Amino acid sequence: MEVKRVSTGSKPLDTLLEGGIERGVISNFYGESGSGKTNACIQISAEVASSHGNVAYIDTEASFSAERFAQIASEAELENVFVKDVTDFQQQKGAINSLQAMEQDLELVVVDSMVSLYRLKVDGGNASEVNNELSEQLSKLSEIARNQDIPVVITNQVYTSFDDDELELVGSDVPKYWSKCLIQLSESQDSRVAEIAKHRSLEEGQKVGFEITDNGLQRNDSGVF
Ligand code: GTP
Ligand code: MG
Repeated sequence: MEVKRVSTGSKPLDTLLEGGIERGVISNFYGESGSGKTNACIQISAEVASSHGNVAYIDTEASFSAERFAQIASEAELENVFVKDVTDFQQQKGAINSLQAMEQDLELVVVDSMVSLYRLKVDGGNASEVNNELSEQLSKLSEIARNQDIPVVITNQVYTSFDDDELELVGSDVPKYWSKCLIQLSESQDSRVAEIAKHRSLEEGQKVGFEITDNGLQRNDSGVF
């Protein structure tokens, strides 16, 4: 089967991902606050926009900034990025449901973060209902990725499990099930690290080091660990 990848705009990440993120599936960048999830979303969007692809960018934390985008990309590229701000889980559902009706042909869909508004809702009420809703939203995104043959990038917060002290994804099995590629971003003592946590063809546990600079994620090469 032909592997179709879209560059992340970062050589270390592309090396890790053997060319970039995949079309047709959901890729999930997860990690702690400050690990680089939003930077990754902005850089991938800039990369797609630089080849005139349209990007639908659902922003749930008001973290997309035109200033940061301009540092990473050119202003012209911003014209190809359609940012939709949402402030509750219902609006997030509406934004995802309206993607298919967009008049622009999309080359990339981003949801940063998939689970911040979910987390607010699940804390306040009926967990199984909210989990079903999360699953439906992810199912819709997965369908768009497959039908339009484009990559969908989501981000995911984490928490430390009480039982075994392990890092867990907010939403747990639901985003894990729907994301065909899971990439953990973290910081070690001397470098930021991206690691394949789940992938159908790449080796799990593979890692690269990368930096974040004023111009975004490191563009040039660095060693694979
Ligand atoms: P949350 O959304 O809080 O979960 O974090 P995140 O994973 O989205 O992190 P984000 O991508 O926002 O990365 C934040 C990190 O990027 C900061 O800790 C900074 O170190 C780095 N960063 C952001 N802007 C700049 C910049 O202009 N210059 C440099 N050198 N680093 C930056
Ligand atoms: Mg962020």
